[in-house]
Amino acid sequence: MTAPILRVADLTVEFTTGEDTVRAVSDVNLEVYPGRTLAVLGESGSGKSVTAQTVMGLLDTPPGRIVAGSVVFDGTDLLKAKEKVRRQVNGEGVAMVFQDALSALNPVYTVGHQIGELLRVRRGMSRAAARKRAIELMERVRIPAAARRVDDYPHQFSGGMRQRIMIALAVALNPRVLIADEPTTALDVTVQAQIMELLTDLQRENGMGLVLITHDLGVVAEVADDVAVMYAGRIVERGTVQELFASAAHPYTKGLLRSMPRPDREADELWAIPGAPPSLVRLPPGCAFQPRCDVAVELCSVQRPELTAVAAGRSSACHRREEVFHGRA
Ligand SMILES: Nc1ncnc2c1ncn2[C@@H]1O[C@H](COP(=O)(O)OP(=O)(O)OP(=O)(O)O)[C@@H](O)[C@H]1O
Ligand code: SF4
Ligand SMILES: [Mg+2]
Repeated sequence: MTAPILRVADLTVEFTTGEDTVRAVSDVNLEVYPGRTLAVLGESGSGKSVTAQTVMGLLDTPPGRIVAGSVVFDGTDLLKAKEKVRRQVNGEGVAMVFQDALSALNPVYTVGHQIGELLRVRRGMSRAAARKRAIELMERVRIPAAARRVDDYPHQFSGGMRQRIMIALAVALNPRVLIADEPTTALDVTVQAQIMELLTDLQRENGMGLVLITHDLGVVAEVADDVAVMYAGRIVERGTVQELFASAAHPYTKGLLRSMPRPDREADELWAIPGAPPSLVRLPPGCAFQPRCDVAVELCSVQRPELTAVAAGRSSACHRREEVFHGRA
Protein backbone atom coordinates (compact mmCIF):
# COMPACT_ATOMS: atom_id res chain seq x y z
CA MET A 1 0.00 0.00 0.00
CA THR A 2 1.17 3.55 -0.70
CA ALA A 3 1.76 6.09 2.07
CA PRO A 4 -1.28 7.60 3.74
CA ILE A 5 -2.26 11.03 2.50
CA LEU A 6 -3.83 11.91 5.85
CA ARG A 7 -2.76 10.60 9.22
CA VAL A 8 -4.46 11.36 12.52
CA ALA A 9 -2.16 10.39 15.39
CA ASP A 10 -2.91 10.08 19.12
CA LEU A 11 -5.68 12.67 18.89
CA THR A 12 -7.40 13.65 22.13
CA VAL A 13 -10.13 16.32 22.24
CA GLU A 14 -12.06 17.61 25.24
CA PHE A 15 -15.03 19.91 25.84
CA THR A 16 -15.31 21.87 29.04
CA THR A 17 -18.69 23.19 30.08
CA GLY A 18 -19.00 24.55 33.62
CA GLU A 19 -17.46 22.02 36.01
CA ASP A 20 -17.56 19.13 33.59
CA THR A 21 -14.96 18.03 31.10
CA VAL A 22 -15.99 15.61 28.39
CA ARG A 23 -13.23 13.68 26.65
CA ALA A 24 -14.99 13.27 23.32
CA VAL A 25 -11.99 11.77 21.49
CA SER A 26 -9.16 9.81 23.14
CA ASP A 27 -5.91 8.65 21.51
CA VAL A 28 -7.44 8.27 18.07
CA ASN A 29 -5.21 7.04 15.24
CA LEU A 30 -6.42 6.89 11.64
CA GLU A 31 -4.75 6.66 8.25
CA VAL A 32 -6.41 7.61 4.99
CA TYR A 33 -4.96 6.26 1.74
CA PRO A 34 -5.50 7.60 -1.78
CA GLY A 35 -8.26 5.71 -3.56
CA ARG A 36 -9.36 3.82 -0.45
CA THR A 37 -12.44 4.18 1.71
CA LEU A 38 -12.09 4.22 5.46
CA ALA A 39 -15.34 3.76 7.37
CA VAL A 40 -15.48 5.21 10.86
CA LEU A 41 -18.22 3.29 12.56
CA GLY A 42 -19.84 3.85 15.94
CA GLU A 43 -22.96 4.67 17.91
CA SER A 44 -24.23 8.20 18.49
CA GLY A 45 -21.86 10.20 20.69
CA SER A 46 -18.82 7.98 20.07
CA GLY A 47 -16.71 10.90 18.78
CA LYS A 48 -16.94 10.42 15.02
CA SER A 49 -17.97 13.98 14.12
CA VAL A 50 -15.61 15.56 16.66
CA THR A 51 -12.72 13.65 15.04
CA ALA A 52 -13.77 14.90 11.59
CA GLN A 53 -14.28 18.46 12.76
CA THR A 54 -10.83 18.47 14.33
CA VAL A 55 -9.31 17.35 11.03
CA MET A 56 -11.11 20.27 9.34
CA GLY A 57 -9.76 22.72 11.92
CA LEU A 58 -13.18 23.49 13.35
CA LEU A 59 -12.52 22.53 16.94
CA ASP A 60 -9.69 24.66 18.19
CA THR A 61 -11.88 27.17 20.02
CA PRO A 62 -13.63 26.82 23.43
CA PRO A 63 -15.45 24.87 24.68
CA GLY A 64 -13.41 22.46 22.53
CA ARG A 65 -9.72 21.87 23.22
CA ILE A 66 -7.24 19.67 21.39
CA VAL A 67 -5.35 18.11 24.28
CA ALA A 68 -2.88 16.06 22.23
CA GLY A 69 -2.15 14.63 18.84
CA SER A 70 -1.45 15.56 15.26
CA VAL A 71 -3.32 15.69 11.96
CA VAL A 72 -0.75 15.30 9.20
CA PHE A 73 -1.89 15.98 5.65
CA ASP A 74 0.69 15.39 2.92
CA GLY A 75 3.55 15.90 5.38
CA THR A 76 2.15 18.99 7.16
CA ASP A 77 0.76 18.91 10.69
CA LEU A 78 -2.44 20.91 10.30
CA LEU A 79 -2.79 21.43 14.03
CA LYS A 80 0.48 23.38 14.01
CA ALA A 81 0.20 24.94 10.56
CA LYS A 82 -0.21 28.65 9.95
CA GLU A 83 -3.75 29.87 9.32
CA LYS A 84 -2.94 30.51 5.66
CA VAL A 85 -1.79 26.90 5.07
CA ARG A 86 -4.77 25.57 6.97
CA ARG A 87 -7.20 27.61 4.86
CA GLN A 88 -5.59 26.38 1.67
CA VAL A 89 -5.75 22.73 2.70
CA ASN A 90 -9.45 23.03 3.53
CA GLY A 91 -11.34 22.33 0.35
CA GLU A 92 -8.31 21.58 -1.82
CA GLY A 93 -6.58 19.06 0.41
CA VAL A 94 -9.34 17.82 2.66
CA ALA A 95 -13.03 18.62 2.20
CA MET A 96 -16.04 17.58 4.20
CA VAL A 97 -19.69 16.83 3.58
CA PHE A 98 -21.40 17.76 6.82
CA GLN A 99 -23.92 15.68 8.70
CA ASP A 100 -26.75 18.19 8.17
CA ALA A 101 -26.95 19.39 4.55
CA LEU A 102 -29.72 21.91 5.10
CA SER A 103 -27.93 23.86 7.81
CA ALA A 104 -24.60 23.66 5.97
CA LEU A 105 -26.04 25.49 2.94
CA ASN A 106 -26.83 29.18 3.18
CA PRO A 107 -30.61 29.63 2.75
CA VAL A 108 -30.40 33.18 1.35
CA TYR A 109 -28.19 32.42 -1.65
CA THR A 110 -28.90 30.29 -4.71
CA VAL A 111 -26.93 27.07 -4.91
CA GLY A 112 -25.19 28.34 -8.05
CA HIS A 113 -24.03 31.39 -6.16
CA GLN A 114 -22.68 29.27 -3.31
CA ILE A 115 -20.72 26.93 -5.55
CA GLY A 116 -19.64 29.84 -7.79
CA GLU A 117 -18.47 31.97 -4.88
CA LEU A 118 -16.18 29.20 -3.71
CA LEU A 119 -14.62 28.98 -7.18
CA ARG A 120 -14.31 32.75 -7.49
CA VAL A 121 -12.60 33.13 -4.13
CA ARG A 122 -10.39 30.07 -4.27
CA ARG A 123 -9.72 29.73 -7.98
CA GLY A 124 -10.02 33.37 -9.01
CA MET A 125 -12.61 32.50 -11.65
CA SER A 126 -14.71 35.14 -13.34
CA ARG A 127 -18.42 35.25 -12.53
CA ALA A 128 -19.32 33.66 -15.89
CA ALA A 129 -16.69 30.91 -15.64
CA ALA A 130 -17.69 30.11 -12.04
CA ARG A 131 -21.34 29.81 -13.03
CA LYS A 132 -20.46 27.51 -15.93
CA ARG A 133 -18.34 25.34 -13.64
CA ALA A 134 -21.09 25.31 -10.99
CA ILE A 135 -23.49 23.89 -13.59
CA GLU A 136 -20.91 21.26 -14.59
CA LEU A 137 -20.45 20.27 -10.96
CA MET A 138 -24.21 20.03 -10.48
CA GLU A 139 -24.38 17.81 -13.56
CA ARG A 140 -21.54 15.73 -12.20
CA VAL A 141 -23.51 15.03 -9.03
CA ARG A 142 -26.49 14.23 -11.27
CA ILE A 143 -28.84 17.10 -10.54
CA PRO A 144 -31.41 16.92 -13.33
CA ALA A 145 -31.76 20.13 -15.42
CA ALA A 146 -28.71 21.64 -13.69
CA ALA A 147 -28.55 24.66 -16.02
CA ARG A 148 -32.02 25.71 -14.90
CA ARG A 149 -31.72 24.69 -11.26
CA VAL A 150 -28.47 26.57 -10.68
CA ASP A 151 -30.54 29.64 -9.75
CA ASP A 152 -32.71 27.82 -7.20
CA TYR A 153 -32.37 28.19 -3.44
CA PRO A 154 -31.51 25.26 -1.12
CA HIS A 155 -35.09 24.91 0.19
CA GLN A 156 -36.31 24.29 -3.36
CA PHE A 157 -34.41 20.98 -3.47
CA SER A 158 -35.32 17.64 -1.90
CA GLY A 159 -33.12 16.25 0.89
CA GLY A 160 -31.31 13.92 -1.49
CA MET A 161 -30.69 16.71 -4.01
CA ARG A 162 -29.41 19.03 -1.29
CA GLN A 163 -26.99 16.33 -0.23
CA ARG A 164 -25.78 16.12 -3.84
CA ILE A 165 -25.23 19.88 -3.85
CA MET A 166 -23.22 19.57 -0.64
CA ILE A 167 -21.13 16.93 -2.38
CA ALA A 168 -20.70 19.23 -5.42
CA LEU A 169 -19.43 21.96 -3.08
CA ALA A 170 -17.11 19.55 -1.32
CA VAL A 171 -15.52 18.25 -4.54
CA ALA A 172 -15.45 21.66 -6.30
CA LEU A 173 -11.75 22.15 -5.55
CA ASN A 174 -10.78 18.51 -6.31
CA PRO A 175 -9.81 17.55 -2.76
CA ARG A 176 -7.45 14.64 -2.17
CA VAL A 177 -9.44 13.50 0.84
CA LEU A 178 -13.19 13.71 1.24
CA ILE A 179 -14.78 13.23 4.65
CA ALA A 180 -18.48 12.40 4.47
CA ASP A 181 -20.17 12.61 7.86
CA GLU A 182 -23.29 10.41 7.83
CA PRO A 183 -24.03 11.55 4.27
CA THR A 184 -27.17 9.49 3.93
CA THR A 185 -28.68 9.18 7.41
CA ALA A 186 -31.64 11.48 6.83
CA LEU A 187 -32.48 10.03 3.42
CA ASP A 188 -34.69 7.18 2.33
CA VAL A 189 -33.08 3.90 1.33
CA THR A 190 -33.18 4.35 -2.46
CA VAL A 191 -31.70 7.84 -2.25
CA GLN A 192 -29.09 6.56 0.24
CA ALA A 193 -27.91 4.00 -2.29
CA GLN A 194 -27.70 6.63 -5.05
CA ILE A 195 -25.64 9.00 -2.86
CA MET A 196 -23.25 6.22 -1.87
CA GLU A 197 -22.84 5.26 -5.51
CA LEU A 198 -22.15 8.89 -6.39
CA LEU A 199 -19.50 9.17 -3.67
CA THR A 200 -17.74 6.00 -4.76
CA ASP A 201 -17.86 7.08 -8.43
CA LEU A 202 -16.32 10.45 -7.60
CA GLN A 203 -13.71 8.71 -5.51
CA ARG A 204 -12.77 6.40 -8.35
CA GLU A 205 -12.57 9.27 -10.86
CA ASN A 206 -10.38 11.43 -8.64
CA GLY A 207 -8.47 8.78 -6.67
CA MET A 208 -9.55 10.55 -3.49
CA GLY A 209 -9.18 9.06 -0.07
CA LEU A 210 -12.71 8.78 1.32
CA VAL A 211 -13.56 8.81 5.01
CA LEU A 212 -17.09 7.65 5.53
CA ILE A 213 -18.57 8.29 8.95
CA THR A 214 -21.55 6.11 9.62
CA HIS A 215 -23.42 3.93 12.06
CA ASP A 216 -24.77 1.81 9.24
CA LEU A 217 -23.04 -1.55 8.92
CA GLY A 218 -24.80 -2.22 5.62
CA VAL A 219 -23.13 0.84 4.10
CA VAL A 220 -19.78 -0.23 5.56
CA ALA A 221 -20.08 -3.70 4.06
CA GLU A 222 -20.88 -2.26 0.67
CA VAL A 223 -18.33 0.51 0.22
CA ALA A 224 -15.52 0.40 2.80
CA ASP A 225 -12.03 -0.97 2.36
CA ASP A 226 -10.88 -0.31 5.91
CA VAL A 227 -12.89 0.09 9.11
CA ALA A 228 -12.23 1.83 12.41
CA VAL A 229 -14.82 1.10 15.09
CA MET A 230 -15.24 3.81 17.72
CA TYR A 231 -16.70 3.44 21.18
CA ALA A 232 -16.87 6.19 23.82
CA GLY A 233 -14.29 8.34 22.04
CA ARG A 234 -11.76 5.57 21.36
CA ILE A 235 -11.00 3.29 18.47
CA VAL A 236 -11.72 -0.19 19.74
CA GLU A 237 -11.11 -2.20 16.60
CA ARG A 238 -9.44 -1.79 13.23
CA GLY A 239 -9.07 -3.93 10.14
CA THR A 240 -10.06 -4.35 6.54
CA VAL A 241 -13.78 -4.74 5.97
CA GLN A 242 -13.55 -8.39 4.87
CA GLU A 243 -11.43 -9.41 7.83
CA LEU A 244 -13.53 -7.53 10.33
CA PHE A 245 -16.78 -9.02 9.07
CA ALA A 246 -15.23 -12.49 8.96
CA SER A 247 -13.88 -12.43 12.51
CA ALA A 248 -14.40 -9.46 14.79
CA ALA A 249 -11.80 -9.09 17.53
CA HIS A 250 -13.80 -6.87 19.90
CA PRO A 251 -17.07 -7.81 21.65
CA TYR A 252 -18.59 -4.44 20.65
CA THR A 253 -17.94 -5.10 16.95
CA LYS A 254 -19.28 -8.62 17.41
CA GLY A 255 -22.44 -7.15 18.92
CA LEU A 256 -22.82 -4.70 16.04
CA LEU A 257 -22.46 -7.53 13.52
CA ARG A 258 -24.99 -9.63 15.40
CA SER A 259 -27.48 -6.77 15.36
CA MET A 260 -27.15 -6.22 11.61
CA PRO A 261 -30.31 -7.03 9.62
CA ARG A 262 -29.63 -9.70 7.00
CA PRO A 263 -31.80 -11.34 4.38
CA ASP A 264 -31.22 -14.76 5.99
CA ARG A 265 -32.41 -13.53 9.38
CA GLU A 266 -35.99 -13.10 10.54
CA ALA A 267 -36.85 -9.70 12.03
CA ASP A 268 -37.56 -11.30 15.42
CA GLU A 269 -34.07 -12.77 15.46
CA LEU A 270 -32.58 -9.28 15.44
CA TRP A 271 -30.43 -8.66 18.41
CA ALA A 272 -29.51 -5.41 20.13
CA ILE A 273 -26.49 -4.77 22.34
CA PRO A 274 -27.99 -4.35 25.83
CA GLY A 275 -27.55 -1.06 27.71
CA ALA A 276 -26.37 2.30 26.44
CA PRO A 277 -22.99 3.97 25.82
CA PRO A 278 -21.46 5.46 28.99
CA SER A 279 -21.37 9.13 29.90
CA LEU A 280 -18.08 10.60 28.73
CA VAL A 281 -17.91 12.89 31.76
CA ARG A 282 -16.99 10.23 34.28
CA LEU A 283 -15.72 7.25 32.37
CA PRO A 284 -14.93 4.21 34.51
CA PRO A 285 -11.20 3.38 34.88
CA GLY A 286 -11.35 0.10 32.97
CA CYS A 287 -12.90 -0.78 29.63
CA ALA A 288 -15.72 1.63 28.67
CA PHE A 289 -17.67 -1.28 27.16
CA GLN A 290 -17.51 -3.38 30.34
CA PRO A 291 -21.08 -2.68 31.61
CA ARG A 292 -22.47 -4.00 28.30
CA CYS A 293 -20.00 -6.78 27.65
CA ASP A 294 -21.09 -10.40 28.10
CA VAL A 295 -17.54 -11.77 28.21
CA ALA A 296 -16.06 -9.26 30.69
CA VAL A 297 -13.61 -10.49 33.33
CA GLU A 298 -12.41 -8.85 36.55
CA LEU A 299 -9.47 -7.07 34.90
CA CYS A 300 -11.90 -5.24 32.59
CA SER A 301 -13.26 -2.97 35.32
CA VAL A 302 -9.83 -1.90 36.60
CA GLN A 303 -7.52 -1.68 33.60
CA ARG A 304 -8.17 0.00 30.30
CA PRO A 305 -7.31 -2.22 27.34
CA GLU A 306 -4.99 -0.61 24.77
CA LEU A 307 -5.51 -1.03 21.05
CA THR A 308 -3.21 -3.98 20.31
CA ALA A 309 -2.49 -6.07 17.22
CA VAL A 310 -4.17 -9.47 16.92
CA ALA A 311 -3.00 -10.17 13.36
CA ALA A 312 -1.36 -8.23 10.51
CA GLY A 313 -3.40 -5.06 10.01
CA ARG A 314 -5.87 -6.05 12.73
CA SER A 315 -6.09 -4.59 16.19
CA SER A 316 -8.51 -4.60 19.09
CA ALA A 317 -8.73 -2.81 22.43
CA CYS A 318 -9.93 -5.73 24.51
CA HIS A 319 -8.27 -7.79 27.25
CA ARG A 320 -9.76 -10.91 25.67
CA ARG A 321 -8.99 -9.94 22.07
CA GLU A 322 -7.23 -13.19 21.16
CA GLU A 323 -10.10 -15.34 22.41
CA VAL A 324 -12.71 -13.12 20.78
CA PHE A 325 -10.76 -13.04 17.51
CA HIS A 326 -10.40 -16.83 17.41
CA GLY A 327 -14.06 -17.35 18.36
CA ARG A 328 -13.28 -18.75 21.81
CA ALA A 329 -15.09 -15.98 23.75
N1 LIG B 1 -19.63 21.63 20.84
C1 LIG B 1 -19.68 20.68 21.80
N2 LIG B 1 -19.72 21.02 23.10
C2 LIG B 1 -19.74 20.09 24.08
N3 LIG B 1 -19.73 18.76 23.84
C3 LIG B 1 -19.70 18.36 22.57
C4 LIG B 1 -19.67 19.29 21.48
N4 LIG B 1 -19.63 18.59 20.32
C5 LIG B 1 -19.64 17.28 20.68
N5 LIG B 1 -19.67 17.15 22.02
C6 LIG B 1 -19.68 15.86 22.75
O1 LIG B 1 -18.70 15.01 22.21
C7 LIG B 1 -19.16 13.67 22.15
C8 LIG B 1 -18.94 13.11 20.79
O2 LIG B 1 -19.77 13.78 19.86
P1 LIG B 1 -19.78 13.49 18.31
O3 LIG B 1 -20.62 14.55 17.71
O4 LIG B 1 -18.41 13.34 17.81
O5 LIG B 1 -20.53 12.10 18.22
P2 LIG B 1 -20.85 11.23 16.92
O6 LIG B 1 -20.11 9.96 17.05
O7 LIG B 1 -20.62 12.05 15.71
O8 LIG B 1 -22.40 10.93 17.12
P3 LIG B 1 -23.61 10.94 16.05
O9 LIG B 1 -23.63 9.56 15.45
O10 LIG B 1 -24.80 11.20 16.88
O11 LIG B 1 -23.36 12.02 15.05
C9 LIG B 1 -20.61 13.71 22.58
O12 LIG B 1 -20.68 13.24 23.90
C10 LIG B 1 -21.00 15.15 22.53
O13 LIG B 1 -21.91 15.44 23.55
S1 SF4 C 1 -11.87 -5.52 27.73
FE1 SF4 C 1 -13.28 -6.79 28.87
S2 SF4 C 1 -15.15 -5.58 29.03
FE2 SF4 C 1 -13.91 -4.66 27.44
S3 SF4 C 1 -14.65 -5.56 25.60
FE3 SF4 C 1 -12.92 -6.81 26.24
S4 SF4 C 1 -13.80 -8.44 27.49
FE4 SF4 C 1 -15.37 -6.87 27.25
MG1 LIG D 1 -21.81 12.84 14.28
